[in-house]
Amino acid sequence: MDLNVKTQNHQLVPHKGFKLINGTHDPDDVDQIYNLEIRDSDVFVVTYPKSGTIWMQQILLLFEAKGDVTAISKLNNYSNADLIPWIEVNGNRQAFITAPSPRLRVTHLQHHFMPAALSQRKGKVIYVARNPKDVLVSYFYFHKVANMLETPKNFDDFFEKFIRGDVYGCSWFEHIKTWYSHKDDMNMLFITYEEMIQDLHSAVQKISLFLGKELTDEQLANVVKHSTFNNMKKIPQASYEQVPGDLLNHNQGTFMRKGTIGDWKNHFTVAQNERFDEVFQREMKDFALSFIWDINDIENQLLVS
Ligand code: A3P
Repeated sequence: MDLNVKTQNHQLVPHKGFKLINGTHDPDDVDQIYNLEIRDSDVFVVTYPKSGTIWMQQILLLFEAKGDVTAISKLNNYSNADLIPWIEVNGNRQAFITAPSPRLRVTHLQHHFMPAALSQRKGKVIYVARNPKDVLVSYFYFHKVANMLETPKNFDDFFEKFIRGDVYGCSWFEHIKTWYSHKDDMNMLFITYEEMIQDLHSAVQKISLFLGKELTDEQLANVVKHSTFNNMKKIPQASYEQVPGDLLNHNQGTFMRKGTIGDWKNHFTVAQNERFDEVFQREMKDFALSFIWDINDIENQLLVS
């Protein structure tokens, strides 16, 4: 999510079945994204908030730098989002039109706002999905830190808001279902956060193959090395450490928070978990999507194999 826009107004503005952030997004400008001309080299990373956007930005930046982290660190910007901008943020659509290739962009937008040309198999889309229980927890903490989002009253209140889709990004369920149902219309790689946690090397290889990147084994290994949670935490531009305090309230927490699977277990009550499961079953019954909900599931799998 773009933090560079100062707004004291946390108002979410309903727009065409989605919600935009007052002061960050201009509805008329967002509507024009649909008509953008797309080059084959364009890449859009699509995520519901807190699903690993900055992580994917880091990987794509490292691909461009052939794994050389110093080349990225030298860039005089305070966040990955300056280098791979949000297409929906005020002013960024205009800049996209004349930007040199490759134009790498991120978005939280729903599918119907995105350039129609993507559905004619122009450009590429990487959809990063994360299990929604961990998304909810991560988003709760992010609301405390990010000044352009309303500070949650408490976890229970935020839990209900998330289930209702009363947050920026709207309903997690609608977001993933819509995008997933369009995955065969476009050049899309659908990848999960949990898959990246489980085996980052294989995930990076998969992304590089999808993008047609020609990297040596050593370069690829460097991409992996500099996109691990612990290493990204040390890079100020990736960890958002240098983002000014009036945008990100650093006293309230860090952007690179836990970076794991299953933190929801430390937050959900038994009743909340049952309720979430019920909503999940109902919403996702027609989608053959399964998620890893617990880091131990991965560790158990590794022990068995
Ligand atoms: P947590 O709050 O659960 O720690 P986004 O970039 O879409 O806002 O997502 C942020 C989430 O991705 C945060 O989750 C953050 O810690 C996590 N993340 C970022 N880089 C990561 C990495 N290299 N490995 C694992 N998780 C990462």
